[in-house]
Amino acid sequence: MKIIIDTERRTLSLGNGSAAETVPLYERQAFELLSDLWLKLSWVQRYSYTFTWMGRPIIQHPEDLLRLQEIIYHLKPDVIIETGVAHGGSLMLSASLMKAMGHGRVVIGVDIEIRPHNRRDIERHELFPMLRLIEGDSVSARVVAQVAAEVRPADQVLVILDSDHSRAHVRRELETYHRFVSVGSYIVATDGIMRELWDLPRGHASWKEDNPAQAARDFVAAHPDFIVEQPAWRFNESSLSRPITGWPDAWIRRLR
Ligand SMILES: C[S@@+](CC[C@H](N)C(=O)[O-])C[C@H]1O[C@@H](n2cnc3c(N)ncnc32)[C@H](O)[C@@H]1O
Repeated sequence: MKIIIDTERRTLSLGNGSAAETVPLYERQAFELLSDLWLKLSWVQRYSYTFTWMGRPIIQHPEDLLRLQEIIYHLKPDVIIETGVAHGGSLMLSASLMKAMGHGRVVIGVDIEIRPHNRRDIERHELFPMLRLIEGDSVSARVVAQVAAEVRPADQVLVILDSDHSRAHVRRELETYHRFVSVGSYIVATDGIMRELWDLPRGHASWKEDNPAQAARDFVAAHPDFIVEQPAWRFNESSLSRPITGWPDAWIRRLR
């Protein structure tokens, strides 16, 4: 792709010569084109590896965290299940919102390997009493039984999948965890942005198909009670209508 930005003429041109498409620089289309490119560059720079939440590293794009916050506040879940703990920042985000809302019993974090220094710092954290840590493969029967033991039939449950992002593993997680999701709530298959990153340094051609967004599409095709649906923005005084997200096609809502 060739992009020419002319701040004097206030245009953005895409493509070569007579095939170039020119759009006004200060309108929505140019913003979206540049945002999509920025998102890819940010991945190469490991931008999402620069944040903490209440002291714990959280490996996400800021907009995705704000959108997740909107959904947590709106749904007020009793239980949040997240696969992929890493340093624990995303567990702290969920737990801190539950505490602030005065609603929510437990945040369950599942990881195949919780490194000793991460476990130590998570266990010392103010919010640890609201967490349950489960170590093991997210789709193993032992782990799923431990998760199930924490969930009560009337609980409002939100599930976030952020572990192994291969299409096959995410599909297995979707098959395993969708039964916990309450009607109207979501199972979020994060990091579908992989499908756009295959041609970048550290990317892989197989990611065009081998990604969480594809797993989400496969899952809903086999489960009519679920749809892929970006949650509506709860506030919007702009002309924009789509997020700048690392989680495309991630939000899978339970209809029935
Ligand atoms: C991207 S990190 C999670 C980031 C975290 N959710 C956050 O927002 O900060 C992915 C984690 O998934 C874990 N993981 C990889 N394969 C897994 C599996 N099969 N089951 C459970 N966890 C897995 C890794 O150990 C790693 O800690």
